[in-house]
Amino acid sequence: MLKVARTVAEVRAFRRELAKQGKTLALVPTMGFLHEGHLSLFREAARHADVVGASLFVNPTQFGPNEDLASYPRDEKGDFAKMEKEGVSIVFAPAPEEVYPDGEETRVEVTGITQGLCGKTRPGHFRGVTTVVMKLFHIFQPDAAVFGEKDYQQLMVIRRMVKDMFMDIRIIGAPLVREADGLALSSRNSYLSAEDRENALGLSMALKAVREAVQAGTKDVKALHDIGSAVLAGHHLKEDYLEIVDAESLRPVEVIGARPVRALAAAYCGKVRLIDNMGV
Ligand code: PAJ
Repeated sequence: MLKVARTVAEVRAFRRELAKQGKTLALVPTMGFLHEGHLSLFREAARHADVVGASLFVNPTQFGPNEDLASYPRDEKGDFAKMEKEGVSIVFAPAPEEVYPDGEETRVEVTGITQGLCGKTRPGHFRGVTTVVMKLFHIFQPDAAVFGEKDYQQLMVIRRMVKDMFMDIRIIGAPLVREADGLALSSRNSYLSAEDRENALGLSMALKAVREAVQAGTKDVKALHDIGSAVLAGHHLKEDYLEIVDAESLRPVEVIGARPVRALAAAYCGKVRLIDNMGV
């Protein structure tokens, strides 16, 4: 049975009981409107601990003033049913006041790695993410936590925070889950009209084109960028960024060398901002 916890105290009581039983816990933080990508994280979490916990919280502090907080898709009942089916034991689904009872006076901020890519267009976004994830980590005290590579920069930011703060939590990255045609699964795909849905495919196609060019021997990053950019434009996608970066530090590289690199992109499909990334 899935336990639905609305308060911090309920999660803490659950966690204490687990500790008594000597059981380990893996946490999967989410904002809900669950799809197969999220479900894959629950399955991954089950491989790393005795018990899987989740959070379902549309975190207001990670949305900018002109972003989609108010319209973010929600289906709490459906999400609980999916969690139950995947064997999640507890979900923390709080009201915003439970998580931010005194507003947002204390913030957690990772610098450096948060500045580029999504951090450029979404100032304050990662500070909101690290603040809420730090809270969730303190509430759940998990042994491990699972994050998807769909949000690759977010995963690296969380890794950085946990490392720098000496937090005793294993961060597990899970592979990006795609539709059969290549579109990365996202709760925000529900915003797309049928026409937008077709154009949206250009995002993964752009990254694939970059990857194929790398495999064919193109080493110059500017040339690689232009190859991806052309695919985006061909699908009427407005490029926010398309960058080829060091897979670890997320710093731009100029020439493809021995170290692993990753191509990350964000683009507007109509009004909807979509992100994707691929190892190249
Ligand atoms: P949300 O967008 O709901 O995503 C929750 C988790 O699911 C993240 O770790 C994300 O990377 C992962 N995920 C989403 N789509 C995926 C896909 N197609 N394949 C694999 N994993 C996927 O990310 C957040 O929520 C929030 O920022 C959060 C971490 C919960 C903090 O508020």
